Amino acid sequence: MSEKIIPSKKIHSLEDARNLSKKRLPKMFFDFVDGASGDEKLCELNSTALDQIRLEPRVLRNVEKRNLSKKFFGVNYDLPFGFAPMGMCNLTWPGADKMLAKESIINNIPTCVSMASTTSLEKMYEFTEGRSWLQLYIFQDEKFVMELLDRAKKTGYKTLVLTVDVPIQFRRAKDDKNGFTVPFKIGPKQFFDFATHPNWSISTLLYGIPKPMNYETSKGGNKFVRSESRGSTDWETLKRIRNAWKGNLVVKGVMSQDDSLKIKDIGADAIQVSNHGGRQLESATSAINALPLIRKALGPEFPLIFDSGIRSGGDIIRALAFGADYVMIGRPLMYAIGADGAQGLRKIIEIIKGELSTTLGLVGLTDINEITSEIIAQKFFKDMKY
Ligand SMILES: Cc1cc2nc3c(=O)[nH]c(=O)nc-3n(C[C@H](O)[C@H](O)[C@H](O)COP(=O)(O)O)c2cc1C
Repeated sequence: MSEKIIPSKKIHSLEDARNLSKKRLPKMFFDFVDGASGDEKLCELNSTALDQIRLEPRVLRNVEKRNLSKKFFGVNYDLPFGFAPMGMCNLTWPGADKMLAKESIINNIPTCVSMASTTSLEKMYEFTEGRSWLQLYIFQDEKFVMELLDRAKKTGYKTLVLTVDVPIQFRRAKDDKNGFTVPFKIGPKQFFDFATHPNWSISTLLYGIPKPMNYETSKGGNKFVRSESRGSTDWETLKRIRNAWKGNLVVKGVMSQDDSLKIKDIGADAIQVSNHGGRQLESATSAINALPLIRKALGPEFPLIFDSGIRSGGDIIRALAFGADYVMIGRPLMYAIGADGAQGLRKIIEIIKGELSTTLGLVGLTDINEITSEIIAQKFFKDMKY
């Protein structure tokens, strides 16, 4: 874990990373990361809505020293952001999970391990030296979820993230067109895609075909079928999970004030405001739009995490100003790894860190924990006072 990672010289912006990864990855896997539900407009809207939040520069304040570290769930992290759960990361590049884990250690930040991770939850805990959180979906078989809960407890996990916004999977046109399924089906189209991306294909063959490893290592022999319905999950399910898990419980994928209040009443420890990066309800509002409303409903103290559309350090500051306590990054990590592996990831994290620190100074603050809605330029939001 200790060798130095040199930041990529090929990447100077997130757009560079996205463009490069588009070239390097088989189309099927680039589209899996980049794609969204239906017309894909919500994915775009998440970012444009963030862009529309304008901050007010403040001058003549001494901002020479700036602190980016933030406490969440009683843990001191070096940065106000962590890594959102993403299934099948090693499809982007062999060893992607390990690269994320390494950055988690270097930056002392959490990595949320997906239930559909290509590395088992036990190994990820080891690779991150205990900085991982575990994300779960409830499929039809709740027994398997309980098995994973037990495994997480035994491993030492302190934080569980229950994703609730995928009771049914919204259609993703690109995945359909490319024939992307888990488990994989390889026909002539997919074979051509691999053959025209030999670097990825050879590396993947040498490293081993990515599999959903939490399933592969399951004693109950459960199989991951991406299209399986999760529709029977309801409030009673959440109560059962709350009873079974004594550690921190985050409910991810919440966009409604009423749902947030109910989740708080059931005893969750935090809510992750998210529309799954525009990968679920196509006609939902942007996630950042929902954030201040949920903050208002829950009051100033209830822990809120935010994801969906974060593309820069400035976006993280905007989300904090809109009421988030902690922020998660998704697709940018995969673009970076797809573009230039561990070095690409190193570079994108450096860029985001730099933007965070500069933006903080330019709004006249020296500590990330001092951010409030006061830094927002638009009068309307300023008056909301949260
Ligand atoms: C390739 C990919 C796989 C994902 N897999 C999961 C998953 O397994 N579990 C989950 O809760 N969310 C998953 N998500 C959603 C992310 O956790 C997060 O909500 C989303 O990426 C945020 O949007 P953004 O990447 O546009 O910022 C996935 C997202 C992507 C892009």
